[in-house]
Amino acid sequence: MRKTLSVLLTAAMATSMLAACGSSNTQATQAPAETKAAETQAAATTAAPAETKAAETVAAVTEAAKEAEANGETITVGFAQVGHESDWRTASTNSVQSALSKENGIDLQFVDCDNDSAAQLEAVRNFIQQGVDYIVIDPIVSTGWDTVLTEADDAGIPVIVIDRTIDDSDKYVSWVGSEFTNEGLAAGAWLKAYVADKGISEVNALVISGTTGSSAQIGRSNGFDKYVEAENWNKIDEQTGDFTQEGGQKVMESYLKSYDGKFNVVVCQNDNEAFGAIDAMKAAGVSYGVDGDVIVISFDACTAGLQKVLAGEINADFQCNPLQGPDCLNIIKKLEAGETVDQKTFMAEPWYVAEDKLKEITYTNNSGNEVTEPLVVVDQAVVDAAY
Ligand code: AHR
Repeated sequence: MRKTLSVLLTAAMATSMLAACGSSNTQATQAPAETKAAETQAAATTAAPAETKAAETVAAVTEAAKEAEANGETITVGFAQVGHESDWRTASTNSVQSALSKENGIDLQFVDCDNDSAAQLEAVRNFIQQGVDYIVIDPIVSTGWDTVLTEADDAGIPVIVIDRTIDDSDKYVSWVGSEFTNEGLAAGAWLKAYVADKGISEVNALVISGTTGSSAQIGRSNGFDKYVEAENWNKIDEQTGDFTQEGGQKVMESYLKSYDGKFNVVVCQNDNEAFGAIDAMKAAGVSYGVDGDVIVISFDACTAGLQKVLAGEINADFQCNPLQGPDCLNIIKKLEAGETVDQKTFMAEPWYVAEDKLKEITYTNNSGNEVTEPLVVVDQAVVDAAY
C-alpha cells in the first residue's frame, strides 16, 4: 500500500475529473470510425483553470511514484469481477489478470463476485479497508454504487470501472468498455436488412436477456427495442437467462412450451445463452440458423460463438470486446505518472454474420450519428483470431 501516493492520486483524479466534466462530451478512443471522430472532436478537453494546483499535484504524484518504484514497491489493485458466467467473462478475467501482473509491477487481488451485487459491494469495501492503491470494478448492475464509491473517494483510492457502466455515481476516475446500446441498435438494423433481403414479412421475436439491471442488458434491450417499435415487429416475450448457458436453455425450454411454432427470431443477449437456446431448439426439433425457421442473433462473438456463426447456427453475432486489461493498465500507468486520463474509452467492436449477402448496415447510433458499418462474414481465420 502506498497511502501518500493514493491521496495524491485522488487529488490529481479530482482535477482531471473536473477538467473532463468541463468538456462537453466523452472521449472515445476505439469507437467505430464516425462515432469516434465525432466524440473525439467533441471531447477536445479544455485546460483546467486550476492549472497551477494541478501541476503541483502532478509533480508530487510523479515524485511519490518514482520513490515507490525505487523502493521496489508494487502497486496494489483490487479487482471486483462480476463472476464467471460466460466465455466472455473468462476472457475479461484473463485480460485483466495478465495486464495487471507482477511483471507489470502490480499486486492484483481478484474477487469473483459470482453475480451477487451484495458480495460485490462487500468486496469493494474490503479493498477500501485494506487500503489498496486502486480499485477496479466491473459492476454487476448499474445502480447502488454512490455510497461505496464515496467511501473509496474519502479513503483516497481511485476507482476504475470496466465493461459495464455505473449510472448513479461519478466518483470514479475512468471507464473503459462497450457501447451496449449500439450493439442492440446494430442487431436491430441487421435484422431489418436481413428480413427485407429474404422477403420475410413478419418478425415474431423472443428475447433472452442478460442479467436484469446490468448496463449490458439495458443497452442491448433498449437498442433492439427501438427497431421493434419502428418496424412494428412483434416482440412476443423477453425473459432473463442471466448471461448463462443454463439460463438460455431454461428460458428457451419454457418459451417452446408457450410459443412453439409462433416465433421466427430469437435474440440471445450473449453467446452462452445462445448455446443453451440452440440446445433446447435442437432437442425440440426446431430448425434454426441460416437454413432453419428461426433466425438466431447473439452478442459477444467469442470463439465458440463465432464457430456457431461459421457453422450457420447463429445468423449474426455482435461483438462485445472483453480485452480491457491493457487499457486498465494504461490508465493506472498514466495516473502513476500524474497524467490526465480519458473519462471514457469505448472498445472497438465489429459485427459478424454467417452469410455474405449484406455487406454493411446503416443506423443512427446512440450518439445520434448516422453510421455505416461493415458486416464481417465469418471464416476460419476470423474464428482463429477470436478471444
Ligand atoms: O458485461 C458484458 C456481458 O457480460 C457479456 O455480454 C456477457 O457474456 C457477460 O456475461
